[in-house]
Amino acid sequence: MFEKLLRPKILKLKAYESARSLNLTADHFLDANENFDGPYNRYPQPRPESILNALSDYYETSKESIFLGRGSDEAIDTLMRCFCEPGSSSILITPPTYGMYEVSAEIQGAFVKKVPLDLDFDLNVNPVLQSIDPSTKMIFLCSPNNPTGNVLTRDRVLSLLDRIKQDVLVVIDEAYIEFSQEESFVKELKNFENLIVLRTVSKAFGLAGLRLGVAISNPELIAVMNKVRAPYPIAQPVVEAFEKFWAEFNPESFQTSINEYMKLKNLFVDKLKQKQEVLRVYPSQTNFVLVEFKDATQVFERLKSKGLLVRDQQSKIKNALRITVGSAEQNQLILKELV
Ligand SMILES: Cc1ncc(COP(=O)(O)O)c(C=O)c1O
Repeated sequence: MFEKLLRPKILKLKAYESARSLNLTADHFLDANENFDGPYNRYPQPRPESILNALSDYYETSKESIFLGRGSDEAIDTLMRCFCEPGSSSILITPPTYGMYEVSAEIQGAFVKKVPLDLDFDLNVNPVLQSIDPSTKMIFLCSPNNPTGNVLTRDRVLSLLDRIKQDVLVVIDEAYIEFSQEESFVKELKNFENLIVLRTVSKAFGLAGLRLGVAISNPELIAVMNKVRAPYPIAQPVVEAFEKFWAEFNPESFQTSINEYMKLKNLFVDKLKQKQEVLRVYPSQTNFVLVEFKDATQVFERLKSKGLLVRDQQSKIKNALRITVGSAEQNQLILKELV
């Protein structure tokens, strides 16, 4: 079904065949104009096998179902380039939400329709359905949502997926899901061929500096995304750093460290709620909290003057700052500055 949604040019596009994409074996590689000498003289694998093995295991899917990019941001951008025809296609977003969906769409020349979340920052299913028109290519949902921190009610998302009649892709961004109690929508991929799930190692895994993120969907759609991406997106030092990380990865201690992190968050939230100038701490299933202050600008400037940078969200939500939960010491530094 997704072929109908593709930009016609992309449907017809023949992917660039890089020397390594042909997967040829040889004793001497003299096919890619690499220098015979140098610390990183060889191009990396176009889709590094070790990373795909690790992540397909972890996300419980097949390697063919994974688009590997420089962060999930690259997956968002690649989706725009595959599906949005400049000047005519549109995407639908549910603000307040992560800013890159809109930015990537604008860069591609696509229109952005906005159907705000409800007062609890949950999905407004009917208005989303009513806003779909023939130009709509993708709906971006973020759960847990940035910057609000809550998860979208699963039944609402499922109801949206069930009731979409026209051909539209639904992208569920699960960048923060490891911090939550929620089950990933990866398990639903078999039921919805228009579903795409975004995951990343930037957040819970603490690997933001590596720039690795994925889109997970049916293999046919992933193959199209791979046609559009750069020939060698993942640099060899990144592959090696990830392999080192993964060799030492232990699921139990990973879960323990997340539990500890979430305990830090809960403690931080409790203390924030005791502050006079804090009007509200929104419930969070992530490693950040959205906080409503009496005067957010004043708090922002005060923290900044002490070398404490938080994220001003006032353009999206009145008097709100988004604060990433830090170490116990860092959280204490914030609390110390609040009245
Ligand atoms: C909701 C959401 N999606 C995606 C991203 C991008 O993550 P990545 O580092 O994988 O590009 C972020 C980063 O802050 C995010 O908050």
